[in-house]
Amino acid sequence: METRLNDNLLPLDQLMQHETPFYFYDLDLLRATISHINELTASHNAIVHYAVKANGNPRILKEIAAAGLGADVVSGGEIIAALDAGFSPGKITFAGVGKTDREIKLGLEHEIGCFNVESVPELEVISQLATEMGKTANVALRVNPDIDAHTHRFITTATADNKFGIAIEFLPQVVKRAHALPGINLRGLHFHLGSQITVMRPYQMLCETINRLLDDFEHDGTTFEIINVGGGLGIDYADPDAHPIADFEQFFATFHHHLNLRQGQQLHFELGRSIVGQCGSLIARATYVKHNRNKQFVILDAGMTDLIRPALYDAHHKIENLSSRSSERATYDVVGPVCESSDTFAHDCSLPTTQRGDLIAIRSAGAYGESMASTYNMRRLPQAVFSI
Ligand code: LLP
Repeated sequence: METRLNDNLLPLDQLMQHETPFYFYDLDLLRATISHINELTASHNAIVHYAVKANGNPRILKEIAAAGLGADVVSGGEIIAALDAGFSPGKITFAGVGKTDREIKLGLEHEIGCFNVESVPELEVISQLATEMGKTANVALRVNPDIDAHTHRFITTATADNKFGIAIEFLPQVVKRAHALPGINLRGLHFHLGSQITVMRPYQMLCETINRLLDDFEHDGTTFEIINVGGGLGIDYADPDAHPIADFEQFFATFHHHLNLRQGQQLHFELGRSIVGQCGSLIARATYVKHNRNKQFVILDAGMTDLIRPALYDAHHKIENLSSRSSERATYDVVGPVCESSDTFAHDCSLPTTQRGDLIAIRSAGAYGESMASTYNMRRLPQAVFSI
C-alpha cells in the first residue's frame, strides 16, 4: 500500500481543520536531516551553510540555526532574517551578483563571516565602504569553474556564459587586486555548480578544478583559508517516501575523497533544497473536478502563486489525494485557479477518484515553494502549519 503523507504525521482530521492552501512542514524530518548532516561533517573541518533562499520561514530558520548550521544569504532581507533566527554573524556568507551599497553596509555592520564576491567592481565598492566604516570585509572570490552540471537551464550557474562568478583566467589578477585593496581580508574561494544535481560527476570535476587552482596559487605563494564548494545536491521528487533524506553520504564523501584540502583549510558548503525540500508539502483542496472533451481536470485552490516550480521549470512534484477512500483511480490534469495555462501542477496524473473538497498534497515542496510564492491575481500568500 502506498504510504501517504498523513499516515504518520498529522492526522487527517487535524489537517482538515486548516484553511487551504497551506504549507505543511514535518519538523521531525527536518531535524533528522540536519542531524544526519551534522554527524557526517562532525569529524571534518567543514561548515554547512543553509541557503536561506530555499525557505526563509522563521520557524524553519530557527530550527536550522539552533542546530548550529551557518546561513548563506543573498539579500539584506535574508541577512536580517538569518540574524533574527539566531544564526551567528560569523557563520553568515553573503552571495549574489548585485549586492547594493545598503546591503553591503548591513553585512559590514554585523561583521558577517564572508562576502562571496562576484566581480572587481563589487570588490572595489566593498573595499571603499569597509574603509569608510572602519571595518574589514571578509571575502571569498566566486569562481566560475565552467562546469556544466546538466540541470535545468534556469538553475545552472557555473558555465562560462553565465552571469555568475569570475572566469578562471581572470582569477590571478583579481586575487592580487583583493590583496592590494584596503578593508579586504581575502579568506577564500567560492564555487557553486547549480541546483538539483543528483549525480556526483560534476562535483568530482569541481574538486579536480579546485585542486589544480590550489596547486597553481600555492606555486605563487598564495594560500586560502576557506574553500566554499556551494550547494546543489538534489532530492528525489519522484518518490519522496523512498528517499526522505538526500544522499548526503555520497555528496560529502565525494569532496572528502577528491578534494586535496590543505592543512587547516576549512571546507564550506551552501545547501538549500537538500535540507528543506522533503520536509514540506503544499496542501490544497479540490475546488472542482471538471470533465472536458479529452481531459479531466482537478482544479485546486492552490496555484502557481503558491508553488511556481511546475510552471517555471516544468518541475515534477508527486501529488497525492489524502482524503479519497476510493479504490478506483482516474487520470487528471491537476491545475490551479490562476488565469495562466502554465498554472498546471501535473499532466495526466493518476489519482484515486477525486471529488470536490478532497485534500490534496503536493509533495517535496519545502524548498523554493513558500519562498517563491507571490500575490499575483491578488491572491493571499500561503500559510504554514507545522507537525509539532
Ligand atoms: N549557493 C548559491 C550561490 C546558490 O545560487 C544556490 C541556489 C545555493 C547555494 C543553494 O542551492 P541548492 O542547494 O538549494 O540547490 N528556484 C530554483 C532553484 C534556484 C537555486 C538558486 N541558487 C528551483 O526551484 O529549483
